Amino acid sequence: LASARTDTVKSVTTLTAIAEEKTLRENFIRDEDERPKVAYNNFSNEIPVLSLSGIDEHGGRRSEICKKIVDACEDWGVFQVVDHGIDLSLISEMTHLAREFFALPPEEKLKLAMSPGKKGSFIVSSHLQGEAVQDWREMMTYFSYPIPTRDYSRWPKNPEGWLETTKTYSEKLMGLACKLLEVLSEAMDLDKEALVKACIDMDQKLVVNFYPKCPQPDLTLGLKRHTDPGTITLLLQDQVGGLQATRDGGKSWITVKPVEGAFVVNLGDHGHYLSNGRFKNADHQAVVNYNYSRLSIATFQNPAPDAIVYPLKIREGEKSILDTPMTFAEMYKKKMTGDIDRSKLKKLAK
Ligand code: SIN
Ligand code: FE2
Repeated sequence: LASARTDTVKSVTTLTAIAEEKTLRENFIRDEDERPKVAYNNFSNEIPVLSLSGIDEHGGRRSEICKKIVDACEDWGVFQVVDHGIDLSLISEMTHLAREFFALPPEEKLKLAMSPGKKGSFIVSSHLQGEAVQDWREMMTYFSYPIPTRDYSRWPKNPEGWLETTKTYSEKLMGLACKLLEVLSEAMDLDKEALVKACIDMDQKLVVNFYPKCPQPDLTLGLKRHTDPGTITLLLQDQVGGLQATRDGGKSWITVKPVEGAFVVNLGDHGHYLSNGRFKNADHQAVVNYNYSRLSIATFQNPAPDAIVYPLKIREGEKSILDTPMTFAEMYKKKMTGDIDRSKLKKLAK
């Protein structure tokens, strides 16, 4: 049996190809302490849903919205936005095309597969090579900003229209992200361009996640617990549910309630460090389920690789949470190789 299992593992192409199996394959089974603690559809109301209607006006309504955004960033570092000015028809077009892509036969998707030595944008399971346990997800990932660095050969062309829709989508999301960073800059008593400028030339990466139905969802994760490395992330999710956040290191979790047409906004490590820890970078994960496949589209707004990671503002009575400045490329490398020196992350002095 053991050798049969090894053979089948080797022959895996995509997850959609094995989603109908009765039992979960060994390489997706997580240690008990990592397994889901809360159901994918046990929704919490803890994460605020904020309307951005009126944010471009000056005066009362704008300051009211800004305050709510700042409160949410200080609390969980996660909130949802509605009335964000991005057409719902664009959003549904984008999700519709993405769903169509993942429904393609495995051999079509694998034409875009990334593998050692091969450029590509389709990835099955884990991002990091050599991880012992794999995530239960398929994804498409490609860079959309800075525009001159775009490699359209890695953008999805099938189904037809996805490439053009993605162009508009990524531009609109860049606009929304910058608007939110302006709010946070002002909250830090800085020039409203400050956070965007600290990114030098802001990168944007899209990751379209597809989590197939899973035979034994209690044993695995769609995406294991992490914080995002960048400045700010905008996530579009469908109505299934599965995004979870924790603020006690994974002891307890809440499931973010899906809201039609909303973006879930969360800060990443860069945003957290620039604010000297005032704005949180929530730990989050995605759980999967037996009944439904799930789609989410994450838009990561990251600083340029040579941007400096260091607090822009250290408030009176506080110390820097970083001993020394580093570039984003250095920070990213440390994070990915898992040796970020936690002893260097000092507690905020009160
Ligand atoms: C992510 O953390 O990038 C995606 C989470 C999700 O699919 O809900
Ligand atoms: Fe994430």
